[in-house]
Amino acid sequence: MKVIIVKSQEEGGKVAYDILAKAVENGAKTLGLATGSSPITLYQEMVKSDLDFSDITTINLDEYVGLENDNVQSYHFFMMDNLFQFRDFKETHVPEGKVSDLEEEARRYDQIIEENPIDLQVLGVGPNGHIGFNEPGTPIDSTTHITDLTQSTIEANKRFFNDIKDVPTKAITMGIKSIMDSKEIIMLAYGDKKADAVYQMVEGPVDVSFPASVLQNHPNVTVIVDEAAAAKLENK
Ligand code: GLP
Repeated sequence: MKVIIVKSQEEGGKVAYDILAKAVENGAKTLGLATGSSPITLYQEMVKSDLDFSDITTINLDEYVGLENDNVQSYHFFMMDNLFQFRDFKETHVPEGKVSDLEEEARRYDQIIEENPIDLQVLGVGPNGHIGFNEPGTPIDSTTHITDLTQSTIEANKRFFNDIKDVPTKAITMGIKSIMDSKEIIMLAYGDKKADAVYQMVEGPVDVSFPASVLQNHPNVTVIVDEAAAAKLENK
């Protein structure tokens, strides 16, 4: 894992954008995208940029189960709000969380991933080490699946909702195998609340009890963190 420590989330967005732009210039056709606060400055750089994305397919990691796509808390809405309304892509994919047959949706999503191998995957990390919504204990060979969100994830994500009761308890997420199959990964984490997670991800034991640690086994990961998120790392 390569760790880059930046001064701010703004600088992190620029560093991440440079990696993404290089991948696109080198022929990347499929970008795996993430939601949450961490990728926002990267998306701002993408919005400002003059890079042509019209031949690029995007595949998002996850979506809450039960929210309509136009619900402001849905990841469909987030992606439209932060990126897709501003820039044209060839295709954009986000898992559907409001379909009657979620298992069928998971199979459909895996088919999309199979047809569009991910060149560059953008990730954030949950305080409990989740990547996408792959919660602790998710098998490393998992593909797209429906998951129960842990209490810690519901707590961490309640800040976006009016009431904790409104936070969905289930999600549909790309699996760890699909994330690990992507050619290159950018992991973004900022702020002191992520310091423990960054330490466990980068220097802790590789174990599915902390899913992000599995990224240590990927050959091409760049971790972009600010000083607060890097505070607990021993080998800086
Ligand atoms: C959510 C998403 C994750 C994201 C995480 C961290 O749980 N499912 O993909 O990485 O939040 O979010 P943030 O960047 O806001 O800390």
